[in-house]
Amino acid sequence: MRTGWGKRLLAYGAALVVAAGLAATPSVAHGELQDPRQDFLRASQAGLFLHWGERTAPAHTDCGAWESDVTEGGWTADYWVNEAKKLHAQYIVLATFHSRLGYARPWPSKIPGSCHTSRDFLGELIAATKKAGMRTILYMTDDPQWNADGLPSGKSWLDSKGFSTYAGHTVNLTTRDGFGEFSYDNFLEVMDKYPDLGGFWIDNDNDYWLSHNLYEQIRAKRPNYTLSNNNEDTPIMDMVSNEQKTGMSPAYDYPQAVWTAAPRLVEADYKLPDTGAWWYTGTDSTVDAGLNVGRYIANAGSSIKSLMDETAMVNGKFPSHQVDYNNFLKGYLDQIWGSVNGTEGGGYLNGGLQPGFWNDGSHGVTTISKTNPDQQFIHVLTKPSGSTLRLRDNGYQVTKVTNFRTGAAVGFSQANGSLTLTGLSGWDKYDTVFQVETHGRTGIYPAGSYTMSASASASGHPASAAADGSYLTYWDNKKTLPVSLTYDLGSAKHVQYLGLNQREDSVSYARSSTEQSARIRDYKVYVSANGTDWGSPVTSGTLPSHRGVQFIDLPARDTRYVRLEVDSTWAASSDSTHYKLLRIDDSWLGSAYAGSATPPPPGTRYEAETGTCQGTVDSDHAGFSGTGFCNTTNATGSYVEWSGVQGPGTVKFRYANGTTTDRPAALTVNGTAAGTLAFAPTASWEAWTDATVTVPLAAGPNTLRLTSTNTGGTPNLDYLEVTP
Ligand code: GCU
Ligand code: CA
Repeated sequence: MRTGWGKRLLAYGAALVVAAGLAATPSVAHGELQDPRQDFLRASQAGLFLHWGERTAPAHTDCGAWESDVTEGGWTADYWVNEAKKLHAQYIVLATFHSRLGYARPWPSKIPGSCHTSRDFLGELIAATKKAGMRTILYMTDDPQWNADGLPSGKSWLDSKGFSTYAGHTVNLTTRDGFGEFSYDNFLEVMDKYPDLGGFWIDNDNDYWLSHNLYEQIRAKRPNYTLSNNNEDTPIMDMVSNEQKTGMSPAYDYPQAVWTAAPRLVEADYKLPDTGAWWYTGTDSTVDAGLNVGRYIANAGSSIKSLMDETAMVNGKFPSHQVDYNNFLKGYLDQIWGSVNGTEGGGYLNGGLQPGFWNDGSHGVTTISKTNPDQQFIHVLTKPSGSTLRLRDNGYQVTKVTNFRTGAAVGFSQANGSLTLTGLSGWDKYDTVFQVETHGRTGIYPAGSYTMSASASASGHPASAAADGSYLTYWDNKKTLPVSLTYDLGSAKHVQYLGLNQREDSVSYARSSTEQSARIRDYKVYVSANGTDWGSPVTSGTLPSHRGVQFIDLPARDTRYVRLEVDSTWAASSDSTHYKLLRIDDSWLGSAYAGSATPPPPGTRYEAETGTCQGTVDSDHAGFSGTGFCNTTNATGSYVEWSGVQGPGTVKFRYANGTTTDRPAALTVNGTAAGTLAFAPTASWEAWTDATVTVPLAAGPNTLRLTSTNTGGTPNLDYLEVTP
C-alpha cells in the first residue's frame, strides 16, 4: 500500500479548514467533517471486510468457471449477513474488485475490461444487508500493477482491447491512468445501478479519479453514499481507515497506531485470522479471541470502528476457526453490548473517565453514553495484579459503581483526582465491565472563565482555541519548543491541577523513526500573582506518550496566573512531520478534585420516595415528611436505596415500625457493608422515630442501601439525613 504521509497531513489540515468553515457556511462543496450521511457509520461499531474474488483459493483464471463454482458451492448473501450479525457488525465491505484477487466485478457489468458475473452477487448482498438493517460498502482498487499476477506470461486480468473498443479510444488498462478511466466508469455504473449501496471503500487514490472530479460526482448523484479511504486522510472522504498494525503493547491496543483525530470518522481494519493473507489462501488460520475482543473493545473506547477481515472461501463460507470465533463473539458481545453500543470512547473529546494504563499493570478503556454523560463504563482488558482498580476521574462525581454483567454493587472512593474501585474479584477473561454512574463534573473552571495566551502560535490556531471548550479548534505551537501556555483566571483563585486534551493526530506507538507521537514530554509549571514574576517551577515532570486526556497535578494554591512550559515532545528529529509539533484541543484548570466538594449543610434530607423503593411509596400513615414514605415488600431482601448522598457525615434514618418485633436491615455504603440496624418497634405506624448510625460517607456523592434481613421487610422509611 502506498502511504502518503506528506499528502495525508496536508489533506488533514484541509479537512479541518473545511470543518471550521462548516459552522459558518452550511453547504461545502467538498467533504464535510460531520454530515447526516455519516450517521449510519457513526452509530455503527463494526464492519465485516471480505476479500473474496476470482483468485480466492483455489484460484480460477476463467471468469465463468469461477462464477459457476461460486453458485454451485452454495453462495448466499444471507450467510455473510448472518455472520456479520454475530460480530455485531453493521456493514459489510466487499473487496472483489481487488488488485490481488483478479479485478473481478461481481455484478453484470456492461463495461468490458475485467471479469464480471452474470449473477448479480453485489445486488443480492445489497438487498440482504438492507433487509437486515445493515449496509453494503463496495471496495474499489486504484491499482493496475497486479494485472498479470499469477497468470502465464503474456496474459492479463485486464482486457485493454475490449475496454478500448467500448470507450472509443485506445486505453491501456495496465497504466495508472488507463486503469483510472476503466475504474471510473465502473464507479458510475455502480452508482446508476445500486441506489441502496452504502458507499465506496477506496484503497488509496488514482489521479484520473481526482482530475475527473469523481468524488464530487458521487456526492452529487448519491448524497447518501459514504466514502472511506484506506491509509490517507483525504478531506472529501467521510471515514479514514487505519490499516492493521501490530507490535503495540498491550497487543490489542490498536488505537496507539492510529493517526486520525476524532471527530473525524475513523476506522481500524484488521485481520481476524492470526496469520496469512487478507484473503483465503486455502488455509484455516486460528483466531486469537483475546486479541480480537481486546481490539474491538479498545477501538470502541476510542470511537474507532472495527473493520474485521475474514477470509471467505470460494463459496462464501468461512473456514472453521473463523466460524467458531463468530459464534463465540456473538455470545460474548451480547452480554456486554449495552456498555459498547450507543457510546463514544471515554477520555477524549466527549468527556469520560481516563482510559489507558492504570494501576498495578492494569489497562483498558472507558465508554460514555452518547445520550447521558453520567452513564459510563470501565472496560478492564488487562486486570490489575490486586483487587483494586484506580483511574483518573476527569472531574466526574461518581455516585454508583456496579459490575455490568452481574449488577452487583462495587465499593469505591474518590480522592486526589482518582476513582478507586475496591474488593474486586471474579474478573472476566477478556473484558470486565463496570458501570459507573456520575453526578456531573465538578471543580473545573468552565470555558469562558479564563483566558489563554502562548509564547508561539501558528496562524489561525491561537492559544484561545485551547480555552474555548471546542474540540474543533486547537492551539498549534508552530513547531516551537520550548513553548509556554499561560492561563489567566482574572483574579486569584484556587488551582489544583490542569487538564489537557492533545490532538490525536499522531500515533502514540512510535513504530518508525518517521512516525512518532507529537505529545507533550517534559514540562514545567509556574504560577504568578501578576503575570510578570514567575519564580521557580511549582512542579515539573514528564507526561506519557498516551492517547486521551492527561493531567498535571499542582501543589494546590490560590493564584491568578498559571504557566505550562513544554520543553520537549515525544517525536524525534527524524520525524520531520511531528518533530517539535504540539497541538492542544482543550486545556482547563481544576479548582478541586471531584469527591472533595465542601460538605453539605447539616440536616440535608434525602426523602425515601425520591430514592429506589422496592415496594410502594405510600402516604397512609401521617407524620411523614415530603410526599410519602417507602413501604418495602414484606420479604427478606427488599430494600430502599438513596444515591447522590453528599458526604462526609453521619447518617440518620427516619422510620416507623408498627409491629411488635424488630425489622432489621443491612446497610451498604457505596456497595460496601456498613453494619445492620435493628429498627425496633415504634408503637404504631404513625410513630416516626430516628435511628442514627455512624458510617463513613465519602466526600462527594454516596449511594446508601438498606436491605431487609427479615421476612417482614424493612420498616416504613421516611427519609435519611446527613450531619457533617
Ligand atoms: C401494614 C402497614 C404498612 C407496612 C406493613 C408492614 O400494612 O400499613 O405501612 O409497611 O404493615 O408490615 O410492613
Ligand atoms: Ca412493608
